[in-house]
Amino acid sequence: MGRKPPYSTWVEVDLESIQANVNYIRKTTGAEVMAVVKANAYGHGAVPVAKAALAGGATWCAVARSSEVVELREAGLECPILILGYIPKEQVAEMLQLKASLTVWTLDDIKKIGEQARKLDVQAPVHLKIETGMGRLGSFPSQALSVALAAERHAHIQLQGVFSHLARADENDPEPTEHQEKKFEYALSLLKDKGIQTPYIHLANSAASLKRPSAHYNLVRPGISIYGLPPSPAVPLPDDFQRALTWKTVLANVKTLPPGHGVSYGHEYVTQEQETIGALPLGYADGYRRTDGNQVLIHSQKTPVIGRVCMDQCMIKLDHIHNPQIEDEVVLIGKQGEKEITADEVGRIWGTINYEVTCAIGPRVPRLYRKNSM
Ligand SMILES: Cc1ncc(COP(=O)(O)O)c(C=O)c1O
Repeated sequence: MGRKPPYSTWVEVDLESIQANVNYIRKTTGAEVMAVVKANAYGHGAVPVAKAALAGGATWCAVARSSEVVELREAGLECPILILGYIPKEQVAEMLQLKASLTVWTLDDIKKIGEQARKLDVQAPVHLKIETGMGRLGSFPSQALSVALAAERHAHIQLQGVFSHLARADENDPEPTEHQEKKFEYALSLLKDKGIQTPYIHLANSAASLKRPSAHYNLVRPGISIYGLPPSPAVPLPDDFQRALTWKTVLANVKTLPPGHGVSYGHEYVTQEQETIGALPLGYADGYRRTDGNQVLIHSQKTPVIGRVCMDQCMIKLDHIHNPQIEDEVVLIGKQGEKEITADEVGRIWGTINYEVTCAIGPRVPRLYRKNSM
């Protein structure tokens, strides 16, 4: 990205990678792609990512909150957008005006959305969610038919899709996913028997988009993979995928401490000998977890974060780094020279998954984009 940007810490996102990742999924599945851009596109930035995904051939976006629909529409995106879960009834009218598709799973949902649609004199596009094994949202196959019929009979509702979500597609054992697929198929057959067919049927998250053609139907819903990150160690991404996000900072200070000197709150780290310590201008308020074991890259070498991560700063060991200087670039996630720290590695250190790592990068960390046209 050329010259150092004027920030303490920042994220660089390669939009061409996202575009290429989406294009790969579209080509290999042969289905339409609904790019999951909720949670600020897993921390990557919703609007630029959504544009890149559409440029890569996605035809839909999916979000979790009505505010995320507002953000995409205000940025001029006109693509269909599905809100994947619950929204409060007070937000329904605005979402219908913004032409968002809503998820339904109860008769009450049909009533609540139908009333608002009637008042606005619009057709509310809805997707019926089936409970097949996630234990979260959705109506059981046996109840789904009555919800689907209510939607079909309502003059102001258009049943645009039927979908479900897979709980264990990212594992080696295919059995739990096969079981969910069977339940989904059963629900679809009940609907079909009553003559109900919807324009869209969708089930596949990233893991199933990559390895379960039986779950593709005519629309897939990948999230993590479009960012170039694997759904789990059991489902590595093909080599064609490219990681889109790099998280950087700079050295804010370099100092030599005498032996026996504490570092950071609580003095959990005390120097053994004379040591060179660097301070980085980022901390847990930026989403960098206050946990042991963090590592960063500087001068293309890994070095440990020492002492407690503070709200806005943390410290690193620099003894083995030749001539470290204030403003030297430091990589928290991503490549530097031949070395790389992945979001997956950071997730392992934090005792969590790559999803949570990138989602947690705070709003005060600017996102810079590598493709100027987007
Ligand atoms: C309903 C639904 N569909 C699709 C996805 C995308 O999943 P993934 O990021 O594993 O591809 C999510 C993510 O949480 C989801 O909640």
